[in-house]
Amino acid sequence: FSDFLTDSFGRQHDYLRVSLTERCNLRCQYCMPEDGVELTPKKRLLSTEEVITISRVFVKEGVTKIRLTGGEPLVRKDIVDIVGELRKLVGLEQIAMTTNAIVLKSRLPDLHRAGLTHLNISLDTLVPAKFEFISRRKGWSRVMDGIDAALAIGYSPVKLNCVVMRGLNDDEICDFVDLTRAKDIDVRFIEYMPFNGNKWNDKKMVSYQEMLDLIRSRWPEVERLTDKPNDTSKAFKIPGFRGQFGFITSMTENFCGTCNRLRITADGNLKVCLFGNTEVSLRDALRGGMSEADLRQVIGAAVGRKKKQHADANAAPTDEIRTTIPAANRNPPG
Ligand code: GTP
Ligand code: 5AD
Ligand code: SF4
Repeated sequence: FSDFLTDSFGRQHDYLRVSLTERCNLRCQYCMPEDGVELTPKKRLLSTEEVITISRVFVKEGVTKIRLTGGEPLVRKDIVDIVGELRKLVGLEQIAMTTNAIVLKSRLPDLHRAGLTHLNISLDTLVPAKFEFISRRKGWSRVMDGIDAALAIGYSPVKLNCVVMRGLNDDEICDFVDLTRAKDIDVRFIEYMPFNGNKWNDKKMVSYQEMLDLIRSRWPEVERLTDKPNDTSKAFKIPGFRGQFGFITSMTENFCGTCNRLRITADGNLKVCLFGNTEVSLRDALRGGMSEADLRQVIGAAVGRKKKQHADANAAPTDEIRTTIPAANRNPPG
């Protein structure tokens, strides 16, 4: 594995998360203000070609998994081309996407053909009216259609991300587990994290332990599974159920020790930690004509600066999903 992508704590970064846009067709309360966010002018975003060039450098150094994120990645018109071009990179084993699935169904056949290997879909409620409240938009049944289409075309499992918020959807936890009874679905319950301006308060956060206790009271036979080395989630299953579920404990137990992720923001900045600052603009480096070899040095230097654990990892996380927080408050104090 390349030295360039190994940090001073021996963590090998083989997983790259690429944000393709700050735009989103939903306005989830925990993520965006009602009016959306200030958008970066298109020419400051990475082009199709730049996404591929940057990805190529990382794959050459040992990245085997690229996740396309946003905002909402499917609002990019060139999304199928991006997947198709990524597929040509020798050594890249997984091309994954995290999407809200609002427009997934119609694009899925092309994405699948182009080479998309893994799909994570955000879904916080099974009640249509609540969906509208949480996301400030209609679309619940389109998401459900997207999930069914993904299962039908063969994604196995389809992962669902469910951000659990007290008083809002914590009464649906067992209903979500029940979804795994007959379907090849992996529900991941996510502890609600504070983002700048998302009205987070610790009373709204439901901890992993509390969620698990609740599930155990309904299904005492719940079974812990073995996690894969770099998984963000702790996996469980109800014996006899087809699918499984898990918990992403971003708030109560960080997973910094096994972090294998690097991030590229939609405007081409490299981030070595979800909670940290942007390190360097790979976009400007590319546009300035920097050679691939020099680009590799720049990336390696940034990875070398990665901290063991960001000071805010257990306290005040910032933006990830939404790369769209106005630059001025994009990162936490300190
Ligand atoms: P898999 O590759 O399928 O395991 O997905 P993933 O968990 O890496 O990515 P996904 O986009 O589905 O994100 C699910 C949740 O994990 C989101 O709430 C993210 O904010 C959180 N998450 C992803 N990466 C990190 C990380 O490096 N640190 C922390 N604390 N949370 C993360
Ligand atoms: N806390 C926890 N998870 C969040 N996500 C977005 N905002 C938050 C938050 N404040 C989730 C989305 C998506 C994933 C990438 O991150 O629901 O599934
Ligand atoms: Fe990775 Fe930073 Fe989260 Fe640690 S705090 S797991 S290094 S993103």
